[in-house]
Amino acid sequence: MTWLITGGAGYIGAHVARAMTAAGERVVVVDNVTSGMPERLPADVALVRGSALDAELVRRVCDEHAVSGVVHLAAHKQVGESVERPELYYRDNLGGLATLLETVADAGVRRFVFSSSAAVYGNPDTGVIPESTPCAPVNPYGETKLAGEWLVRASGRAHGMATTCLRYFNVAGAAEPALADTGVFNVIPMVFDRLTRGEAPRIFGDDYPTPDGTCIRDYVHVADLAEAHLAAARRLARPGVSGDLTVNIGTGHGASVRELIDVIGEVTGIGTPAIVEPRRPGDAPRAVGATELAEKELGWTASRSVRDMIESAWAGWCLRHPEAAAH
Ligand SMILES: NC(=O)c1ccc[n+]([C@@H]2O[C@H](COP(=O)([O-])OP(=O)(O)OC[C@H]3O[C@@H](n4cnc5c(N)ncnc54)[C@H](O)[C@@H]3O)[C@@H](O)[C@H]2O)c1
Repeated sequence: MTWLITGGAGYIGAHVARAMTAAGERVVVVDNVTSGMPERLPADVALVRGSALDAELVRRVCDEHAVSGVVHLAAHKQVGESVERPELYYRDNLGGLATLLETVADAGVRRFVFSSSAAVYGNPDTGVIPESTPCAPVNPYGETKLAGEWLVRASGRAHGMATTCLRYFNVAGAAEPALADTGVFNVIPMVFDRLTRGEAPRIFGDDYPTPDGTCIRDYVHVADLAEAHLAAARRLARPGVSGDLTVNIGTGHGASVRELIDVIGEVTGIGTPAIVEPRRPGDAPRAVGATELAEKELGWTASRSVRDMIESAWAGWCLRHPEAAAH
């Protein structure tokens, strides 16, 4: 069978494409290369440049490559932008998903994996977050992921398509430097960026009810995340698997912002002390995903450490910012 990976030239998509091809799966990528980079893809992966929301193109790819499963990663993903441009997020992340689902179901696809996010939970007041936690997203990005999950499940039921929604926690690291995230939207690249410019990393609030007072998040290595996609795809390909599964992809452990900055200082050798600024509105003290369901249903657990994530992310950062390596 062939898997269509939408957004496969992106940061996570390229890791998924690599993991799946390395495991012997046949893969074709559709990516419009807005934030993706074709050179991230292994040479033997076919890349079709175009929009995953273009029904005609997707139908042609499904027919030409005999696609029987889809891993859908293509999406806008910036929380701040989603607040400023909610229509864009609803139109592409949700409206586009409706078009994609209709098209691939019509083309005979009966397996679908959807990139969801821990953003669906909002800021629950709980230590570790199981999948049964009521979802209450706090921004349009998270809303489109939650509504996307509803749509994926409904579409699966309507068309007899087995579906899996993967709720990623904080993704970081790189399997190799050239595959690293090029965006500066998450805490690790944001700290790298400050250090590279000779500025102190910022901590937003150190008076949270956590051991060191800074917020705790669940960081998952992108190579582990890619293996979770492979596990999800293989589960869906098993005879007799039907229905839907919605599962956290995290480590079950948290790291605080202060711990993260300390490890970044050790790895980079740049020991600029952090400055503490006021809390940002809407930041939960702690967001760590429960992992039991992923272990039970996918046979998957994360194996890489926060240090692995930081070391590999820093190697990728230095590749693009040679001035950083000179420190
Ligand atoms: N990075 C994270 O921490 C994180 C966390 C939770 C969920 N996610 C989700 O994972 C997915 C991938 O995120 P990423 O970090 O790899 O982002 P990314 O921007 O690196 O990758 C997205 C890819 O999709 C492509 N793309 C965008 N719109 C497209 C379209 N209409 N048609 C075809 N291709 C299109 C881009 O060119 C890019 O290659 C997204 O759905 C995102 O919401 C990411």
